[in-house]
Amino acid sequence: MLPAMAGMPVAYASTAQTDIPSLKEVYREDFLVGCAFSERDLSGARLSLIRSQFNVLTMENAMKPDALRNAAGGFTFGLADSMIASIGRDGLPLHGHTLVWHQQSPAWLNRDEQGGILARAEAERNLAGHIESVAGHFAGKVISWDVVNEAVMDNPPNPRDWRASLRQTDWLNAFANGAGQSGADYVERAFLLAREADPAAKLYYNDYNLDGQAKAIAVAAMVKEINDRYIARGNTRLLIEGIGMQAHYHIRTKPEDVEASLKRFVALGVEVSISELDVFVTGAAETLTPAQEKMQAELYARLFLVFRKYAAHIERVTFWGLDNGSSWRKKQFPLLFDASLAPKEAFRAVTDPEGYLGIALETPAVSAQNTEAPANTPASASGENLPAEAPARSTGFPWWAAAAVAGIAAGIAACLLIRRRKKAG
Ligand code: G3I
Repeated sequence: MLPAMAGMPVAYASTAQTDIPSLKEVYREDFLVGCAFSERDLSGARLSLIRSQFNVLTMENAMKPDALRNAAGGFTFGLADSMIASIGRDGLPLHGHTLVWHQQSPAWLNRDEQGGILARAEAERNLAGHIESVAGHFAGKVISWDVVNEAVMDNPPNPRDWRASLRQTDWLNAFANGAGQSGADYVERAFLLAREADPAAKLYYNDYNLDGQAKAIAVAAMVKEINDRYIARGNTRLLIEGIGMQAHYHIRTKPEDVEASLKRFVALGVEVSISELDVFVTGAAETLTPAQEKMQAELYARLFLVFRKYAAHIERVTFWGLDNGSSWRKKQFPLLFDASLAPKEAFRAVTDPEGYLGIALETPAVSAQNTEAPANTPASASGENLPAEAPARSTGFPWWAAAAVAGIAAGIAACLLIRRRKKAG
């Protein structure tokens, strides 16, 4: 039974669908499978579905700066702590999202009461105060943090200059204010503070559109420089240990682009997490057509072939929500369960990507998989082919096909029986 949380009725978890495959079991040998959750997910069928499908969680909003700070600069940990208490009973590990972001953050962190940008020294104090207190408070309760979220601009014109590729955020501008230098060091500073506050947590840089090669190059350059400097100081562990590819995709996303970025990040020696996965069906009406369901499912299947290929370097694949109805992009039907928590075609595809795509994967010749970084030029998106070296997976007969065959066999047997009885008179 769940503890009564502020405003939440205590409810026994009713059973969700249990006669379907479990995503966490299907990928148990590959990576953790998670979802973003909110307080509404901690009871009834929603909690049952989370328990049966996932083995890692991320709070969608409750651990962001605006949720954890009040106007006076104090801390409001109540909701996040009660949510941790609830999932803790299931032993579900938690990924922390997020310490430093230009959105959902109180303005006073970087601006004065007149709205002017703070001077560097005050912004430094605010950054340290937030990270030390928050990462310190949750130390031992999170396995990893999105320390900095979305600091790099989209389509940077000169991606090898990562400092010039940073988004013009209040953090960047405050760290530059009166300093006579670029404010770009706020990124490294944030990671150093997080490492000190919670040495056990893995520290991630998290961003979206990283299937775009220019942005991926800028992120890789930033992560490499910061890590090289940290190791040069005699540390044996990387400072930025992971890159979160948010993976807010759409049905025209190219798995080949995703793979090119994965290769680039893996070459840095960091782990990758697919941190906020969803696939929008743009142009959808009130419901998805069968053709749209199929297109979305096929893309999910192709993406999971890529994820499996790099499973040795992927820590976690987290869906950004439980179902279409609670998604931040509900009108594009982006997730694996519909608003009634029924599994969609996309769920079927993810639980058996090879089966769904009908690929008879030949056992590849024993050779090192081509997971080297691409040449130092943005990999051009290749044709619409599947990853050539997708590893052999038992093309186990998918559960839905087996059920269909069993049904047909039963029908034939019944017809034969009826004919035999007619003959026997
Ligand atoms: O909490 C207030 C509530 O008091 C108020 O009554 C209500 C009415 O407006 O708003 C509530 O805040 C909303 C918040 O979610 C919590 O539900 C905000 O309006 C709404 O804008 C906010 O949206 C979140 C969005 O980030 C904000 O940028 C989404 O739920 C969340 O899924 C989304 O997640 C982000 C990741 O953190 C970072 N990557 C991109 C991703 C999508 O934007």
